[in-house]
Amino acid sequence: MTERTGRGNAASVNAPAEISASPLARYRELVDDWDAFAAALCRPLPGCVWANPARIGVEDLAALLVEQGVSVQPVPGLPRALAVPASFRTGQQWWYCIGLAHAQEVVSQLPATLMDLEPGQRVLDMCAAPGGKTAQIAFALDNRGTLVANDISFMRIKALQGNLDRLGVVNVTTTCSDAANWPTASGQFDRILVDAPCSSEGTLRRNVSLLQRLDPANSERLGPRQRALLRKAVQRCRPGGRILYSTCTFAPEENELVVADILAEFPDDLRLIQVSVPGFRTRPGITEWCGRTLPPELALCHRFWPHHNDSGGFFIAVLEKRADLPAEPEPRRATGSEDGNDDWLAGLDAKYGFADGYWDRYRVNRQTRRGLHLMAADHVPPAVPKAEGSGLFFHRTNAKPPKPTTAGALLLGRDAARFRLELTEDQRDAYMRRETFAPTDEQKGLNEVGQVIVSYRGHVLGVAIFHRSGVIESQFPRRWSGCAPGPRQALDTAIPD
Ligand SMILES: C[S@@+](CC[C@H](N)C(=O)[O-])C[C@H]1O[C@@H](n2cnc3c(N)ncnc32)[C@H](O)[C@@H]1O
Repeated sequence: MTERTGRGNAASVNAPAEISASPLARYRELVDDWDAFAAALCRPLPGCVWANPARIGVEDLAALLVEQGVSVQPVPGLPRALAVPASFRTGQQWWYCIGLAHAQEVVSQLPATLMDLEPGQRVLDMCAAPGGKTAQIAFALDNRGTLVANDISFMRIKALQGNLDRLGVVNVTTTCSDAANWPTASGQFDRILVDAPCSSEGTLRRNVSLLQRLDPANSERLGPRQRALLRKAVQRCRPGGRILYSTCTFAPEENELVVADILAEFPDDLRLIQVSVPGFRTRPGITEWCGRTLPPELALCHRFWPHHNDSGGFFIAVLEKRADLPAEPEPRRATGSEDGNDDWLAGLDAKYGFADGYWDRYRVNRQTRRGLHLMAADHVPPAVPKAEGSGLFFHRTNAKPPKPTTAGALLLGRDAARFRLELTEDQRDAYMRRETFAPTDEQKGLNEVGQVIVSYRGHVLGVAIFHRSGVIESQFPRRWSGCAPGPRQALDTAIPD
């Protein structure tokens, strides 16, 4: 039997005997210490957050948490990450809602660190939603250049876009398609992540009901799709480029067997490469399973067992495409209207006092009738497949008066020279609850009424209206607000304003 405590991640399988009686027992021979493995699966999974490199240092984030009475631990091998208690409700914290941090399981953070990412690379994230790894990749590219994040699920793409907007990512184009049919005309990529759909056995510690649904037949069923995705990644990878294949499952049918079959399909063009995973204890990929012997290089894959790092289960293979193959020509780029936006930017400059040349680091275009999107200046969306969106929706021009979106304010607000309002702690909480609240005497003395960018301790919170009547009205979007009244929508399914 399983039990939910209803607090954060703090739910767990009750007894190791349940693990031993489940389909996971077929991995007995693969695990070095079955009792420790089963016991680990019965403990709630510790939480983890990483500090947004564009917004806060990890020491300052740790200080915010400690001030709240939360115990935090550094995570060896992940310098921007902090482990937090399993019961901590990360998504409801004010600093989370304004994109100072992102919650992501520790092993889930590893793929982006093993892709050898550098600014200037063209990167494809084939199965990207809800986007934790996409955001990590975006920042590893310094929030510049071109990252294409695809997912087959439209709803999950919306969740991904919500996360990217909250975190202030401007170098991503999102697409919604079956990545197994990813078009050749999209060109080649220096790095491709295939974080494949899988049976998710490794997520049992945070998804206890999964125990009742475990079925090895799922792994057999998923194999063809995983092979199709990895095959397409090989085809779309630039010569000399790198592909990272990952799953959160223990099943060899979804891990080593998939990788072995794709290596066999491209015997001269593809090889597994050795990568080290500092700070983590890993086991080599297996080379024997159910009577099948795999090539010895499969041992270069990494298996992450829950009892070794107090984590979920995970699998990673890093592949490299031969460098001396002929490269394809650069793809056609998407055309989009970038004209006619200068007046809107001039309006923002006039009100908020952005420095001369401020917009040069961005491309601004109109993707919807509602307003303007902001992309990194060197972001080049491919012409195909059709983009769901590129960059960040930052300025609502169909409002009277036009106003920055919350994502826009979070991204640009600290560079505004005027119409800034620093809030007290109580005002901050009222603002995050979307309330109207009274200004302090000092704030009343300011002459900046109307639309203002509000902050707390210098961290921009969003947009408010300072009414002449003497009240401040929060414009924080309901769906972004962890503290908002009414049924709360999980942040990773939030759709931005
Ligand atoms: C393991 S999850 C990805 C998690 C994501 N990389 C992250 O870090 O947040 C797998 C994703 O693959 C998507 N997916 C499933 N089949 C797909 C396909 N054929 N093409 C593209 N995406 C697919 C699912 O919708 C799901 O969002």
